[in-house]
Amino acid sequence: MHTTLNGVRLSYSDDGQGPALVFVHGFPLSRGTWQRQVESFRSSHRVLAPDLRGFGDSDAPADAAPLPMSQFAADVHALLEELGTGPVVLAGHSMGGYVALAFARQFPESVRGLVLVGTKAGADSAEAAAARRATAEKVKADGVGVVIDAMAPKMLAASNQDAVMTEEVRRFMASAKPVGVIGALLGMAERPDSTALLAQIAVPTLVITGSDDVIIPPAESEKLAQAIPGARLSSIPNAGHLVAFERPVEFNRVLAEWLGQATR
Ligand code: MLT
Repeated sequence: MHTTLNGVRLSYSDDGQGPALVFVHGFPLSRGTWQRQVESFRSSHRVLAPDLRGFGDSDAPADAAPLPMSQFAADVHALLEELGTGPVVLAGHSMGGYVALAFARQFPESVRGLVLVGTKAGADSAEAAAARRATAEKVKADGVGVVIDAMAPKMLAASNQDAVMTEEVRRFMASAKPVGVIGALLGMAERPDSTALLAQIAVPTLVITGSDDVIIPPAESEKLAQAIPGARLSSIPNAGHLVAFERPVEFNRVLAEWLGQATR
C-alpha cells in the first residue's frame, strides 16, 4: 500500500487486526526483512511495516539532504495517525531502533511498548561519523552498490551465510535509493545521543540481540536493557545483525511471550 505523507510517497504493509504492532527496518534495508514477523503476528495483531523514505518501495525526497532520525520518526507517526492506530508497540531494528528511540522521544503518548533489536542508544563517535560522511561521498560517486557490498556480508552470522539467505539480504537492500542511503548516512552521523532518554522510558521494553552480531555487538543491547527500567533482554543464539530474519522461529517466540506478558 502507498500513501503520501510529509511530501513523500511511502509504501507500507498493513495486515491483521488487533493491537497495533509496528516494525521499522534497518539500514540500508526494507520492510521485507520483517516478512516472517508479519506472517506470524497478523493472526493476533494489526501488523504494520513501513518502508522508510528512500528505502524499499518508498520514494526518496528530491534532494540528498541529511535525513534525521526525527524525520523518519515523524513519517512513521504521520502514517499511524492516518491509519488511526492509536498507541502502538513499536519494534525497530538497528537504524530502525534509532528511529524508535526518536519516536519515543517525540511522541511518547503514541507508544505502549518498545522492541529494540540489534541497536544502541549512543551517538556516533567522531571517527564513525567521519566514516559515514566519506561513505556518503562514495555513494554519490559510485552508487549504492558500495554500501551493499560492504554491509551485506556482515549482516548474517557466519553459520547462516548460505547462498539463499545471502541473496535475500542483497534483495532487501537492492531497492535503496542513492538519496535515501546518502541522507540516512548523514542523518545517522548527526543523530543525538539517546542515552539520557533510556531512564525515562516508561513503557514495557524488550531488547533483542543476535549472539553473533558484529555490526552492533550484544554488549550494546546489554547496556540498553540495563538502562531502561524493567526492560527484558533476550540474546538469540546463532544469529547475527539480522536476527529476526535469521532466526524467525526463536525471535517470534521471544516476542510473542513478551507481548503476552508485558503488553496485555
Ligand atoms: C543498520 O543495520 O541499520 C545499520 O548498520 C546501523 C548503523 O550503521 O549504525
